[in-house]
Amino acid sequence: RWTSFSIIEQAIAEVRSTVGDGRAICALSGGVDSTVAAALTAEAIGDRLTCVFVDTGLLRSGEAEQVEHLFRSQFDIELIVVDAADRFFDALAGVTDPEAKRKIIGELFIRIFEETAASKTNATHLVQGTLYPDIVESGSDGSATIKSHHNVGGLPDDVAFTIVEPLRRLFKDEVRRIGVELGIPESFVWRQPFPGPGIAVRVLGEVTAERVETVRRADRIVQDELDEAGLSRSLWQAFAVLAPGLRSVGVSGDARTYDAPVIVRAVESEDAMTADWARLPWEVLDRISRRIVNEVPGVNRVVYDVTSKPPGTIEWE
Ligand code: XMP
Repeated sequence: RWTSFSIIEQAIAEVRSTVGDGRAICALSGGVDSTVAAALTAEAIGDRLTCVFVDTGLLRSGEAEQVEHLFRSQFDIELIVVDAADRFFDALAGVTDPEAKRKIIGELFIRIFEETAASKTNATHLVQGTLYPDIVESGSDGSATIKSHHNVGGLPDDVAFTIVEPLRRLFKDEVRRIGVELGIPESFVWRQPFPGPGIAVRVLGEVTAERVETVRRADRIVQDELDEAGLSRSLWQAFAVLAPGLRSVGVSGDARTYDAPVIVRAVESEDAMTADWARLPWEVLDRISRRIVNEVPGVNRVVYDVTSKPPGTIEWE
């Protein structure tokens, strides 16, 4: 206990000295990291923190509502919710390159924060839930860039805030421990990680509202079946990916189909630096597969990813 206590004290002291007399705005993503970063910052600077939750339209089903509920019911922190789905879909129209998608989403994100901060707060600092592995994988430590994580590499050079990253020396398990210590409910702290660019990196190629909805439906089935089987907590992440550019022939009733596949990915990991594909029980995979092809329009095939990291990454983009 003393370990997370001293980590918390240290992080709070650091936030206090970085922010000084300023005001901070926190980018809430709905994930554990930004939630813990916000809670820590609130401990440090109290009501000089405003949280902004941008609904990108790229979140999982029910996620925006859950985040709003948690922040309004659990914390006494000012929360501004911005519905920006249309702006994200417009910005992503016609874009297929994974790194381009990440950059666009990261930049639009920060621009929306800047607009919100300018019109609704007088923030000087931006709090982000960047973890140690995010920094390593974005090449900020001098190594090669594998993916630009949207809370690190995606930031434009002319960002108007001083960045505060109270979790940047921590791994996920430490962040979860701190979260519980700070009074965040267990159910929230144990949510699986979710990438900043959201479902956009789980639609291979161009992102459209319709494709995102397809992933959302398939993802809901994956989550429900894994919960039902009691497997969710033992997995680092499990999710659905749509490959709309890859169509295959199938049969539905008497009719021929020519539709996209959904890729199911489930991995076990300690810290996301390496990951092992999860040996899910056949029965669970079978239920997930049957339900997806039956319940999700436009999908006629389900494949399971049996690639570990390395050489695969956890996300497909
Ligand atoms: P990869 O795909 O690189 O992902 O093996 C490692 C872990 O990071 C998550 N991820 C992100 N997290 N912003 C984040 O905060 C991002 O841009 C981002 N991209 C990937 C991914 O879900 C996995 O847990």
